[in-house]
Amino acid sequence: MKPKSKIFSGKTLAILTGGGDTPALNSSIESIRNRASMLGFKVYGIRKGWKGLLGNGDIINLTHHPYDGWYGGTALSSSRTNPFPTKKNPENRVPQILKNLKNYKIDVLVSIGGDDTNGAAKKLYETEGIPVIGFPKTIDNDLRTHTMHSYLGQDVEAVLCPGFPSAVQSIMEFANRMRTTCESHQRICVLEVMGRDAGWLTGGAFYGGAEISLVPEFEMTRERKEVFFDKVKEAYMRSPKKAIVVAVSEGVRWWDDERETLEVVYASSELDEYGHPRFGGISGIISSEINQRLGIESRAQITGYYPRSGNCSEYDRKLTVTLADKVADLLLREEYGQMPVMAKMVKHIELEEYNTSTIDMGTIGNRPLQTVYYDKDEFTFTNAYHDFLSHIVDKPEINEFRYDFPVVLPE
Ligand code: F6P
Repeated sequence: MKPKSKIFSGKTLAILTGGGDTPALNSSIESIRNRASMLGFKVYGIRKGWKGLLGNGDIINLTHHPYDGWYGGTALSSSRTNPFPTKKNPENRVPQILKNLKNYKIDVLVSIGGDDTNGAAKKLYETEGIPVIGFPKTIDNDLRTHTMHSYLGQDVEAVLCPGFPSAVQSIMEFANRMRTTCESHQRICVLEVMGRDAGWLTGGAFYGGAEISLVPEFEMTRERKEVFFDKVKEAYMRSPKKAIVVAVSEGVRWWDDERETLEVVYASSELDEYGHPRFGGISGIISSEINQRLGIESRAQITGYYPRSGNCSEYDRKLTVTLADKVADLLLREEYGQMPVMAKMVKHIELEEYNTSTIDMGTIGNRPLQTVYYDKDEFTFTNAYHDFLSHIVDKPEINEFRYDFPVVLPE
């Protein structure tokens, strides 16, 4: 007897990745590919985000090919191409995109991205009726996922995006490692962490032993700067080895004493197609002010792409597999304009489809760090944040050199 064909045989699903990469993108692509092809879809990869649907198209076939989902980044490549007209690119690219979707006979599109990429996908769904499913990704963890974190009997609206767990683990390890060099030189190390306008990722450095943290959600006004310097001095004097790590988000708003304004430090003022400039350099300014004001030696370190690089963490791997299960569910129900998310914060073992839900892509947007997660008077993350992070990563053992030696006096 001839076997029955699979439910979506003859249909094609295409996947694209847009925006900054993460260590969990290949895992997301592989997991979605596996589930879609199990349902009978032919699965294509669109290269370089929305750019791969321009011109004659740049498409590869992912069906029935080996794939390494542990390897970080995206085998499809990424870009910040915007299909819709913007100041930077006034051309409306939607007709090209529609033409290519038709030419390549793409029935369903899965866009893996943050607010920008999925926002564009949502617009294509709403205005052109393209069957689209969004899939979250960002190391910044600022894409609203409506994930509930139950803490001391209260529900806090947290965020959990694939890519963040791997990135936060790297930042945590980075901060923890910095201690040995800071101790050797009795320095204050100011560690700059990516995350754009959100401080979620900087919390990883705190979990890794940074004594003080600054996040973009709380402006460093003239008054707050005074308190900050006092806290830095106290923490330094208290530290047994006269060495501390201060973690700062790249997007911190910092009072400029000369210009008398709050400033953000840009690596480049050039805007991408979604209107974002690139941040970078705030750690140098804070570090030199620590040197001058406190007379304590300080060095700036930009962690840059370190958290974005390298392999997918175990948590991210299972998270992407679980959310891909939910994509399969959406495909079976032919529900589009939706994005799978974790309904609640859970540990690795509970990352299962029954703990997922979907949200209307119309309700996504940016979600900054919640006030409950940050103590603005102490410049530290709170126990609630520790609890949030403890679902995702194990707190590292903070290494210490525990030996002390008697001082020898001249005879
Ligand atoms: O959005 C992800 C992110 O890594 C941000 O944290 C950072 O500000 C930005 O991308 C850097 O962009 P680029 O990849 O253009 O250097």
